[in-house]
Amino acid sequence: MKKIIVLIIAVVIVAVAGSLVWFMGFNNKVESTNNSNNNSNVNEENNDENTNDKTNTNKNVAIIYFSATGTTEKVAGYIKEVAGGDLIEIIPKDEYTDNDLAYGNENSRANKEQNDSKARPEIKNRIDTDSYDVIYLGYPIWWDNVPKIILTFLDNHNLDGKTVIPFCTSSSSSIDASLNTLKDYNKNVNWIDGERLSTAKNEVTNWVNGLNY
Ligand SMILES: Cc1cc2nc3c(=O)[nH]c(=O)nc-3n(C[C@H](O)[C@H](O)[C@H](O)COP(=O)(O)O)c2cc1C
Repeated sequence: MKKIIVLIIAVVIVAVAGSLVWFMGFNNKVESTNNSNNNSNVNEENNDENTNDKTNTNKNVAIIYFSATGTTEKVAGYIKEVAGGDLIEIIPKDEYTDNDLAYGNENSRANKEQNDSKARPEIKNRIDTDSYDVIYLGYPIWWDNVPKIILTFLDNHNLDGKTVIPFCTSSSSSIDASLNTLKDYNKNVNWIDGERLSTAKNEVTNWVNGLNY
């Protein structure tokens, strides 16, 4: 009889201790789940903070560019990484061949176009600019100016009231003369003085970060 009572007490003690251990373990689990939820919120917030302000603006941004040999395209891609928005290429109906781009040949297509004030090379793709508030507009410098296809783009799209930020690549020429051309061509655009950029990613990043829109 004594043995049975001792056995019952032992079973009760084991059961109570077991329940306690399980309960404490469960509580810890709940707490750590809560913590990890909180942590993930913190991380998300931090991630948001780490991304550039530009991606948090409520402005709709597009990076629209023409690039004959890929340099301006590379820069446009870097701008998108920092500024967010949509990357849109201006594609010529007749793509430029190497011969077309031979600037040493005064009869090359590009040279003839640049010398012809009326030249407006056709654009192949339809570009919807209506939904954008801010447009980065990229191009290579051709004879110190915008390639004529950029003027075709301005002819075909109503950018009045929009903020447009030109950027260019070149062998050495600055963006200045092309900026004057653009400002004269459409005076209803809010032109922001842009920049000639190299393909150094940090240069592009710093430039975008320094813009105010
Ligand atoms: C027809 C033509 C004219 C050019 N004129 C100039 C110029 O006046 N100044 C300059 O620095 N670079 C000039 N370049 C060089 C381009 O601006 C430069 O290579 C640019 O980065 C090319 O960009 P893309 O690869 O996006 O086409 C000219 C290139 C071509 C094809």
